Amino acid sequence: LDELLADGVRGRHVLVRSDLNVPLDGSTVTDDGRVRASLPVIAKLADAGARVIVMAHLGRPKGTPDEKYSLRPAVDRLAELAAFPVRLAGDVVGPSAQELAAALGDREVLVLENVRFDARETSKDDAERAEFARELAALTGETGAYVDDAFGAVHRKHASVYDVASILPAYLGELVRAEVEVLKRLTEGAERPYVVVLGGSKVSDKLAVIDNLIGKADRILVGGGMLFTFLAAQGHKVGSSLLEQDQIGTVQAYLERAAAAGTEFVLPTDVVVASKFAADAEYEVASADAIEGTAFVDAGIGLDIGPETAAAFAKEIAAAKTVFWNGPMGVFEFPAFAAGTKAVAQALADATTAGALTVVGGGDSAAAVRTLGFADDQFGHISTGGGASLEYLEGKELPGLTALGA
Ligand code: 3PG
Repeated sequence: LDELLADGVRGRHVLVRSDLNVPLDGSTVTDDGRVRASLPVIAKLADAGARVIVMAHLGRPKGTPDEKYSLRPAVDRLAELAAFPVRLAGDVVGPSAQELAAALGDREVLVLENVRFDARETSKDDAERAEFARELAALTGETGAYVDDAFGAVHRKHASVYDVASILPAYLGELVRAEVEVLKRLTEGAERPYVVVLGGSKVSDKLAVIDNLIGKADRILVGGGMLFTFLAAQGHKVGSSLLEQDQIGTVQAYLERAAAAGTEFVLPTDVVVASKFAADAEYEVASADAIEGTAFVDAGIGLDIGPETAAAFAKEIAAAKTVFWNGPMGVFEFPAFAAGTKAVAQALADATTAGALTVVGGGDSAAAVRTLGFADDQFGHISTGGGASLEYLEGKELPGLTALGA
């Protein structure tokens, strides 16, 4: 970005890809972390006199305009935080975007509507994406430039992330640069002990990263809905808890391979079993090998790690020099099942104070720690990217970075 600023941006249209994919409750932004993280680069360009056009997505609309997925709430939040005018176009590359882009003055910011309102954004067809990218680039006139600052989307081969970079002079934004720098410290010689905490509902989303971490991490702590597939792989019965039957074999193979590679899986020894999936469910703590012995024999569904497990996880985290955490430990949205996630967040916060490098990866995990009352500066780094940070750790090539030669 400094290179672009040094070239001079006054009066030039700069197309910035940001990640404004914020969680919403109706039209209320429940965690504005991504808006705040996107602001510095937009502000820097505006301060330097650029005419900034921001591209972003929200959710997964079906390639057609859908009010439910409008960027309006995110843009309103951006406008509240910004010291410069921000407008939202009524479309992506249509008459409204074209007219507003052409009329944009120095230091003004225009946000295009959700780029996923156009099916070409995510198309698998290279020619379709390229055509859309040309229409996006055309909004910048003769002297345009492109800045990719959407770390959360760098793993997507989408027009606004990948294709635009080959049309306009392209630069890496500071958010992306900062994220990559931290994640590099996890992949290249992380200080040991290196502890990885994985949660979230689906083990299938985490298989590739687990595969890559075996032999690299000293310990992998497993919580969240995915823990039940691990317990099943150990031969335990898990009642009506989330279970990916078809992954049990893979998990068993990982457990065996890890033992030989010096990576220890730390699995829950107790879980909180509820009568139903609801905030007001009855619940009790059960030993991991006695889930079906609870009062809720038929309907028993594990919704959090138990207190013994939370304490064991906290102890492992306290002993670590590097910690990466992705995925809540339980259904933290229900206060009765938030204790495990809270305990892990607190353990990471304490480890940060003690000098460890702690990284919270992922939109969901970031939202979880903020919802539970933690402040960003209690952690070494809160990544804005969920899928992106996992794919980085998996060692995958990320199209948004490749496009910029990064
Ligand atoms: C995210 O939420 O991780 C990013 O914004 C990417 O969103 P996507 O998974 O819908 O591509």
